[in-house]
Amino acid sequence: MVVAPNHATVILILQLLIALQVLIFSPAGADYIPPAKTDGFVYLNRRSFNFDSILIEAFYDPLCPDSRDSWPPLKQALHDYGSGVSLVVHLLPLPYHDNAYVASRALHVVNALNSSATFPLLELLFKDQEKFYGAQTRNLSRASIQEEFVKSATEVIGSSFYTSVKNGFNDSKTDHQTRISFKYAASRGVYGTPFFYVNGFLLPDVGDSIDYKTWKKIIDPLVGAEKNVKNEESLHFFL
Ligand SMILES: *[C@@H]1O[C@H](CO)[C@@H](O)[C@H](O)[C@H]1NC(C)=O
Ligand SMILES: *[C@@H]1O[C@H](CO)[C@@H](O)[C@H](O)[C@H]1NC(C)=O
Ligand SMILES: *[C@@H]1O[C@H](CO)[C@@H](O)[C@H](O)[C@H]1NC(C)=O
Repeated sequence: MVVAPNHATVILILQLLIALQVLIFSPAGADYIPPAKTDGFVYLNRRSFNFDSILIEAFYDPLCPDSRDSWPPLKQALHDYGSGVSLVVHLLPLPYHDNAYVASRALHVVNALNSSATFPLLELLFKDQEKFYGAQTRNLSRASIQEEFVKSATEVIGSSFYTSVKNGFNDSKTDHQTRISFKYAASRGVYGTPFFYVNGFLLPDVGDSIDYKTWKKIIDPLVGAEKNVKNEESLHFFL
């Protein structure tokens, strides 16, 4: 049986809706979403993205061994294909990797100071990963761990940046940027690292064992397909 809502019920429902709206659009969650700048670090600053180039998006945790192992073959492929393939790295600091969040923040700190130093720092963090997690860090304070990341960052960016890096960790902007990275990954449905998207599509089940040969197998047909499309277009133009 359908009961016509009385006046009081309608007002109650309206009040509930307004409360819900306040909850959803409250400034606490909205002050940095959407961000002013799209998330991600562009490899070799190949910013000339266009729809003719292949875009690889890698979701990495700087303290994840599988992310570390997947980087050299991907880097090799990027160098071989040159400007036809671009890479954007997004960070997903995983809660079960100790200190992954502060490691990710270190990358945002350095990226803001000198974006050319971002990937060298990522490589250094990959190399030194073991010193940042596990039993040996259990008794270390947050401050001393952060100091370790400041040291790693200045190793890459130069010792003259020591104070700037330290201040970077004290700047809420870099905290927001790291949160945005996390939220961005979550919004793309990424729940582990490494995850790879190629031209917007998740690579099907390649796992972490994606080696150089696999990358070639993925990219070669795309490059070929692209050439064919272009040829067809020019043919069409001349006919
Ligand atoms: C930025 O970092 C790159 C790579 O580490 C370095 O070659 C360059 O000199 C740095 N630029 C500045 C302004 O420090
Ligand atoms: C951490 O502290 C506990 C208690 O003081 C000690 O038993 C343990 O050996 C320490 N671990 C390391 C890795 O220093
Ligand atoms: C961090 O910033 C706060 C205020 O925002 C300031 O009181 C504090 O001294 C700063 N710490 C460092 C290490 O710069």
